[in-house]
Amino acid sequence: MIVTIDGPAGSGKSAAALRLAKRLHVPHLDTGAMYRAVALDALEQRLLDNPDAIGNRARLLSIDFDWAEDPALILLNGKNVADEIRTPQVTEITWQAADNPWVREELVKRQRKIGDDCVKLHGGMVTEGRDQGTIVFPHATFKFFLDAHPEERARRRINQLQAKGINADLNEILQQILQRDMRDQSRAVGPLARSADAISIDTTDLTLDEVVDKMFERVHAGSAANKT
Ligand code: DC
Repeated sequence: MIVTIDGPAGSGKSAAALRLAKRLHVPHLDTGAMYRAVALDALEQRLLDNPDAIGNRARLLSIDFDWAEDPALILLNGKNVADEIRTPQVTEITWQAADNPWVREELVKRQRKIGDDCVKLHGGMVTEGRDQGTIVFPHATFKFFLDAHPEERARRRINQLQAKGINADLNEILQQILQRDMRDQSRAVGPLARSADAISIDTTDLTLDEVVDKMFERVHAGSAANKT
């Protein structure tokens, strides 16, 4: 069973995907972390603004997840980079990996392989990103598309930053979110899009538990229907 969750930044998909995966007892694949890891490597290797070099390098990198740890580790060439890939600097440059067609080709291939392995070893996987239901797993068992009003997504981001002791301006964060949406939606390869057969959930007025309950109920109902 493959469950895909796509949606824009701040739609709540990461937290929901993590919780849903736990309830289903399967691994959770954060594909954004893979694009971030390629961007971090490009930064460290001073390859930014050199798409050919970033594409070539992506084919050589080892990117692994250790799901035995909670939260899972993301290992870039053997080193855990879970915190480094989430710095504002890496967030700012990740488009250089996400817009790169060679990087996308390579990561899509790897995501499918991880999916195959997870189905064999764990019976399934919950994967989240922008193109999981459309491009990577068009035949996924369940597909969800999460969204929320941009103002609410900006407020969530402010709360995350405040939890880290960082104060930020709501309007500035809102503009950043709108810019990221535009970039994600207009990407030539693998843009953010809702698969026609995905179940849409507007998370604006929902708690995390409510979102996860909704998804779990659909998966549960679907799995039960398959058995009858
Ligand atoms: O989900 P995130 O914010 O960690 O993703 C980081 C960036 O990678 C974001 O700009 C969108 C991009 N991304 C993508 O293009 N395709 C995916 N499957 C996942 C993320």
